Amino acid sequence: MRHPIIIGLQYGDEGKGKITDILAEHAKWVIRFNGGNNAGHTIWIGGKKLVTHSVPSGVMYPGARNYIGPGCVVDPQSLRKEIEEISQAKGSPLGPEHLSVDYRAHLTLPVHIALDAMREKTANSIGTTKRGIGPTYVAKMDRYGVRAGDLGSSGIEDKVKALCDAYAPLLAAHKLPASTHEDNMAAVREAEWLQAYVTREEAPFYDVARNERCLLEGAQGALLDVDHGSYPFVTSSNTMSGSAASGAPFPLSRLGGVIGIAKAYVTRVGQGELATELNDATGERIRKNGGEFGATTGRPRRVGWLDLDELRTAVRLSDTRWIVLSKADVLSGEKEVFCRYQGKLVRFEGWANVVNGTSLDKNFEKYVEFIERAVGVAVTAVGTGADRSHLFWRKSQPDFWAD
Ligand code: IMP
Repeated sequence: MRHPIIIGLQYGDEGKGKITDILAEHAKWVIRFNGGNNAGHTIWIGGKKLVTHSVPSGVMYPGARNYIGPGCVVDPQSLRKEIEEISQAKGSPLGPEHLSVDYRAHLTLPVHIALDAMREKTANSIGTTKRGIGPTYVAKMDRYGVRAGDLGSSGIEDKVKALCDAYAPLLAAHKLPASTHEDNMAAVREAEWLQAYVTREEAPFYDVARNERCLLEGAQGALLDVDHGSYPFVTSSNTMSGSAASGAPFPLSRLGGVIGIAKAYVTRVGQGELATELNDATGERIRKNGGEFGATTGRPRRVGWLDLDELRTAVRLSDTRWIVLSKADVLSGEKEVFCRYQGKLVRFEGWANVVNGTSLDKNFEKYVEFIERAVGVAVTAVGTGADRSHLFWRKSQPDFWAD
């Protein structure tokens, strides 16, 4: 058995949620390997909307165990809120038997959030989610980080003090109040509940991967990867499939194919280039029809035509095996649709409905075939509507866990 990795192939918000939900139902373990509460995943439970940020997508399935890996960062306060909301929606507590946090995951504390806000006020702002994600990874690399496994330890106070002292001059230079040792310690004390969820196994999936189905869930998208994305307008973690091995951590030889999710158009939140951006009525319409407003921040997302030059790079870098083309229905009713290919816009006739009867609309099929030729990978499924059942498999659904 090998275990699939789901990632976004654009700038996040590709609609990974739907396919993740479908597969999570069959998985024993759902593992997040990067990012923190900058991500936003909308789920509907009994007609009630719930937005999750840090927890993996298996939390709604009673049989699934969810793991937040060491490649992730965790804001304890935000995680607690999520756990409470999910428990309430499910009608049963989301306890440590369903959710584990690797002891090596770094904690996002008030000082990180203050630093993120500070940076966003400077000329070098990139439009972050202001959740303190970047500064948490910075402090990790700087060896000042505080980890989930430090909670309750005798040395934590010294670590928190060193962290606050290290970044105090930066806040002072911007004439901002210090994020004090006391305030950060208060947050750490408040986070002691998290200890019950912390696991300390060094290689948690080494044996598990032999006989229990796992699903590796990436956050954000390939083009926001700190190494391979559109730097500096990127997030601060590795969002590519390759980081599943270290961020989970997961045995390399047990990793399976990559399921890459791409929207039928493209959206981006925050600054950075968007070559196909639509600043007109068509862009407005797509934003509205697609509900393109940030799940985490509520910001309107920038909208553009699908960029096949970028998609091809993302597919290659992440070694994508199956593409799921999501939200194709959002473009239904457009007279004409465009793609960027080899630097130029290519025009396609629009479609009224993505699916006619039991097959894809002919114009839409042409669009899909062009995408496949341009990027060199098959589009396995197409998103045809908001509901979980609105997914059209072009052939039969592959066995994503096959060897
Ligand atoms: P950060 O991750 O908060 O540091 O933000 C860095 C960049 O990544 C900004 O452009 C954000 O808008 C973007 N970003 C981070 N997380 C997401 C996400 O889940 N969806 C879309 N964009 C994201």
